[in-house]
Amino acid sequence: MLNLEVNGESHQIAVEQDATLLKVLRDELGLNGPKRGCDSGGCGCCTVHVDGKAVYSCMCYALSHDGASITTAEGLSSGAELHPLQSAFIEAGAVQCGYCTCGMMMSAKQLLDECPHPDEEQIRQGISGNLCRCTGYAKIVDAVKLASER
Ligand code: FES
Ligand code: FES
Repeated sequence: MLNLEVNGESHQIAVEQDATLLKVLRDELGLNGPKRGCDSGGCGCCTVHVDGKAVYSCMCYALSHDGASITTAEGLSSGAELHPLQSAFIEAGAVQCGYCTCGMMMSAKQLLDECPHPDEEQIRQGISGNLCRCTGYAKIVDAVKLASER
């Protein structure tokens, strides 16, 4: 049995030995923020925070995080109020198909937690583990910069 706190709610879930954290979040808890892209550690679409640190949820066994606190993109907002990163992504036009967006925001959140006012180079480095096929990254960088100013 796996105990997880996800976006502030406690869950006790029966999981298979080899289930990944991504599988549990999407398939057992119905969260669609973390995306299944490559499912092999190459794209960052599945990025969530485990105890405040960004990880690729496709690359870790759920059972290895028993007792952990997980935050997904769904957990960034407070009720109806969007997180500054969420509103900045919308305002900067940093979302096209949206497939990378949740993972991108979770990496950006870790960056801003550690470095509240990053320059462009630091932003590009902070999101370097997340691939976007649509935007060319410029608007994503603008969005993170905008969020850092709020
Ligand atoms: S789905 Fe996890 S890194 Fe691509
Ligand atoms: S917005 Fe489509 S992959 Fe990034």
